[in-house]
Amino acid sequence: MSQDSIKIRNAAIDEAKQLTDSCKRAFDSDSEFGAPGPGGPPGYDSVEWNIDKIKNRYLQYYTILIDSDIVGGFIVGDRGPGYQVCERIWVDPDYMRQGIGSRAFELIWDKYPSADLWVLGTPEWNQRTNLFYQKIGFVQIGRTHEHSWDGIYYEKRITERYPKAMSRIGDIHDGRQRIIVEGHVDGIASTRTVTSRKTGEELKVADATLTDDSGSITLVLWGDQIRQVRLDSRIRIEEGYAKSYRDNLQLSIGKWGMMITLNE
Ligand SMILES: CC(C)(COP(=O)(O)OP(=O)(O)OC[C@H]1O[C@@H](n2cnc3c(N)ncnc32)[C@H](O)[C@@H]1OP(=O)(O)O)[C@@H](O)C(=O)NCCC(=O)NCCS
Repeated sequence: MSQDSIKIRNAAIDEAKQLTDSCKRAFDSDSEFGAPGPGGPPGYDSVEWNIDKIKNRYLQYYTILIDSDIVGGFIVGDRGPGYQVCERIWVDPDYMRQGIGSRAFELIWDKYPSADLWVLGTPEWNQRTNLFYQKIGFVQIGRTHEHSWDGIYYEKRITERYPKAMSRIGDIHDGRQRIIVEGHVDGIASTRTVTSRKTGEELKVADATLTDDSGSITLVLWGDQIRQVRLDSRIRIEEGYAKSYRDNLQLSIGKWGMMITLNE
């Protein structure tokens, strides 16, 4: 197969069924590469989920084709200027290991000339994806723990520039959203229990102190996030937001946020 026959284009809603079928077959084949059982990420086998993502204005959903045959899909997310995320890629098992995934990434990189950095996460158990991402130049920068699986977090630098989307702690101000920031965890206060005003539910909360060479900020950790943060570690937050509470500026991790424990 010639590399020129591999194409990507914006996915169309009438392709959703074929995209979903190929996605289900691709992820179900993970059971040969360390998956605990058949299955895949949320919505991987749902036509409705895929239609929703094709329509979603915060994502760009691409169809991967060989000539005019649909052989896979690629979903790109946007975290802010210069900082892109590969949300999902798959290639139909009948077409795997022929360089299509690698070529799809090259085509995607060409489509985003202003990206300085690409990031993605993949389960630690996935022997295939970890090899694949490393082969195409992604470097492991840390780990995530917020899903039911432990994740390896990768990035690939396209330029030497510091992506505009990444903030220094000293530049964070009240009301900022979609914050990407890295820092050192200098302290974690003891966990306290608060009652949610909305639901009446009891919630666990702990304040950590996050520092870089421009300043320090209180990072508010909720529930499961508390056990994911280690004292003296370096972390990256994606999709954080800042709010002043009793005159103290606080950083929280949003609903779509991520916390990555960076390599030592
Ligand atoms: C991961 C995936 C997209 C790779 O697509 P692909 O078109 O098969 O990948 P390529 O042919 O470009 O492979 C490039 C390199 O990745 C590595 N790789 C890919 N499949 C591999 C396998 N089964 N075993 C070992 N290494 C593998 C190899 O280093 C390969 O280079 P080589 O063939 O020269 O040795 C595909 O396997 C897939 O769809 N997997 C299921 C879905 C998934 O896990 N998606 C990613 C998470 S969102």
